[in-house]
Amino acid sequence: MNLKERIEAVEAEIAAAVATSPEAVEAFRVGMLGRNGKVTALLDAFKEVPAEEKRVWGQRLNQLKNAARVRWEELKAHAETAPAEKSSEVDLTRPALTEHTGSLHPISIVRQRIVDVFARIGYTVSQGPEVEDDHHNFGALNFPADHPARDMQDTFFVQDLVTSSEVPGVSSSAVENDAGALALRTHTSSVQVRVMEGGEPPIRTISPGRVYRNEAISARAHCMFHQVEGLYVDKGVSFAELKGTLDHFAKSMFGPEVKIRLRPSYFPFTEPSAEVDMNCTICGGSGCAVCKHSGWVEIMGCGMVDPAVLTNCGIDPEVYSGFAFGMGVERVAQLIYRVPDLRLYWENDVRFLDQFTVGAFRG
Ligand code: PHE
Repeated sequence: MNLKERIEAVEAEIAAAVATSPEAVEAFRVGMLGRNGKVTALLDAFKEVPAEEKRVWGQRLNQLKNAARVRWEELKAHAETAPAEKSSEVDLTRPALTEHTGSLHPISIVRQRIVDVFARIGYTVSQGPEVEDDHHNFGALNFPADHPARDMQDTFFVQDLVTSSEVPGVSSSAVENDAGALALRTHTSSVQVRVMEGGEPPIRTISPGRVYRNEAISARAHCMFHQVEGLYVDKGVSFAELKGTLDHFAKSMFGPEVKIRLRPSYFPFTEPSAEVDMNCTICGGSGCAVCKHSGWVEIMGCGMVDPAVLTNCGIDPEVYSGFAFGMGVERVAQLIYRVPDLRLYWENDVRFLDQFTVGAFRG
């Protein structure tokens, strides 16, 4: 059996596991996660995986380990509350079994809140593909041919992905098929290009969605995250309106006492461009690790849409102007929920996920 088959076999066994007594639950744990357990054996086998495949198998094995842990917790909870098998008497004093109701993921809660703030001031919601072509992700947005973001270091090219025939779920026909310059979108600005190409101003839209960048995974960076980007194109749109809109957003999201400041910055698709800071909600401005003791935290990038981008998208820059902005949902969530480690959002540990309810949102 190769590694894939071994993982699948253990996955199936985890999914099918039953245990009605604490002893059986413990046997499941030892059999899977103990020193000689099946999951532990597979994790050991990871050492033999060639370096270039480590990322894929590492993720897969982590999922397996989590699945075993989650199943173990479930079996444990069930064994604790299940009636003793042999007892024929009904114990009416026994507390009722509680159903686990599940909850929205914190990123979903925060994304929806961001969308609501903009929907209330007339923005529509646009979506686009996560596998994007060079034109929509880079070209139309004025990225020069040698821009570093187009580098493999920063962008996941689909061509690169399908050459590894070991990647689960990728068919060999996709490998043979020349996928061209397709990439996983690095931002949802690509959706705004699609909206501009497909419609006439006035355009007022936000594009929430998942984006991908080729970053090493750590507490502060991840290879996938979520953005909400916004675009407003009309006659006579000004920078003052951009600032007013973002101020309104920050106050709606974080409270009326919040202030923003704009720092000059650079993006290929906006001119002028700015980075938006907000006073740190975690320490109230007195200085902490999140704001690196400056009292300010960066929450998004923004700027006036570069006339060249409007032209690329079939909009006359002599008639229309526009502004755009983009923020990371994980970043906003961090400032609200104070989650210190980005990896927690992807681990699907119910002990983490259970802490977030829509009602507990403090905005
Ligand atoms: N697309 C930028 C990013 O992903 C964010 C941005 C959007 C900046 C719109 C300015 C204007 O980082």
